[in-house]
Amino acid sequence: MTSTNPQTLPEADELGPTGRPLPDLPEPTRPDPERRKHALIIAMCNQKGGVGKTTTTINLGAALAETGRKVLLVDFDPQGSLSVGLGVSPHTLELSIYNLLLSRGTSIDDVLIHTVVDGLDLLPSNIDLSAAEVQLVSEVAREQTLARVLAKVRDRYDLILIDCAPSLGLLTVNALTCSDKVLMPLELEFFALRGIALLTDTIEKVQERLNPHLQRLGILGTMYDARTLHSREVLERVVEAFGDEVFHTVIRRTIKFPETTVAGEPITTYAPGSPGAEAYRMLAREVLARCPGA
Ligand SMILES: Nc1ncnc2c1ncn2[C@@H]1O[C@H](COP(=O)(O)OP(=O)(O)OP(=O)(O)O)[C@@H](O)[C@H]1O
Ligand SMILES: [Mg+2]
Repeated sequence: MTSTNPQTLPEADELGPTGRPLPDLPEPTRPDPERRKHALIIAMCNQKGGVGKTTTTINLGAALAETGRKVLLVDFDPQGSLSVGLGVSPHTLELSIYNLLLSRGTSIDDVLIHTVVDGLDLLPSNIDLSAAEVQLVSEVAREQTLARVLAKVRDRYDLILIDCAPSLGLLTVNALTCSDKVLMPLELEFFALRGIALLTDTIEKVQERLNPHLQRLGILGTMYDARTLHSREVLERVVEAFGDEVFHTVIRRTIKFPETTVAGEPITTYAPGSPGAEAYRMLAREVLARCPGA
């Protein structure tokens, strides 16, 4: 029942864009660098293209690294956009995540790249990865291939974020199989909700058959335009449908994000004081609050 007593209603400025009272999240404590690490793995997943998976991987990763955490980003999309967004040119790579998946002789340290951001590393990818989707089909335990690769470095990082391709094929199933959590970015436009049923269905199948530990971390509204009624209405519908699963943080549409791709760095270093950088820092707080111990 909703209270009608005005004194118990939150002030309008305490309500976030999702219409719910904003939580008062503390600044994340810096982890003890000596603590034994066992990275929490989060897949960024939505089979719809262009919804902000890659942008979220880069900028959430950078915001988490700012808190003193060691973070590994995995480019798991043959488009290589995550690599590009971090200043790596995919076609010049001699080794990529593809080699780690399919040739046993490749050492992960030969593929790992330290980015310009302190504490933020990258496993890059390029178009070679598109062949892996086909080649993995004949492998034994094909769905666990990425898990075997990441097991080798899990003790070096606090968090590993996997940027999935816009598909629900074998690569994405590999990402979900090795993940603890899945974060679903959702573009706040008219057909936003359409693909979510298919995605949650895939997540359930992976939970049943391959990875019972997998949990939904949350839904992130992206490309929000507060000036349009349309954007606000779609966000309202998303919150109606998914409730507290929706992050309080909403990522606004701004030209700054495409600009950061050209610059090859996260928004947290490209425009550290911008609203976009602040939004991803707030998302990092929400993610850490939902993942105690990370
Ligand atoms: N909040 C935003 N405001 C404006 N532009 C954005 C925003 N987030 C992402 N973009 C831009 O939209 C495009 C798609 O974003 P992004 O690459 O992150 O999506 P994606 O889901 O990873 O796409 P794909 O499915 O192709 O991998 C990019 O050009 C990116 O710079
Ligand atoms: Mg992408």
